[in-house]
Amino acid sequence: MDFAVLLGQARETRANAYAPYSGFAVGAALLTEDGTVFTGCNIENASYGLTVCAERVAMLKAVSEGHRRFRAMAITAEGEDYCLPCGACRQLMIEFMTDVPVVLGKAGGEFRVVGIQELLPMAFLGKELMKGEQYE
Ligand code: THU
Repeated sequence: MDFAVLLGQARETRANAYAPYSGFAVGAALLTEDGTVFTGCNIENASYGLTVCAERVAMLKAVSEGHRRFRAMAITAEGEDYCLPCGACRQLMIEFMTDVPVVLGKAGGEFRVVGIQELLPMAFLGKELMKGEQYE
């Protein structure tokens, strides 16, 4: 799937964002290895710390539906600048997407593509936790 098409799905999903506190609507679209797309929007809460970012919603939807292999993640807030994922989302993304392109969108459909490794260098990857076992 074309990056621009995936980004379009992220943009559409912004319409579902629940962001009454920040007014900052974000949409994400995650393409799985088998071509399924899982979308996500940010969902804020009156208890601010419970807010969940668009990227995490998309990731959690996908993984909970049995998908762990991904081809690309698109993110947009339709702002003047590219929407960069927060640190928590980068850590969640790199758990399942060690070398997947991340499509960062901004207003007008412009985008740039970066690697998750570039977004989160020297990441904690849990190899230390596995004690020799292989997890899929
Ligand atoms: N947010 C996202 O959903 N994704 C990002 O990449 C950055 C931040 C949300 C969280 C909160 O609802 C709002 O944007 C302002 O931080």
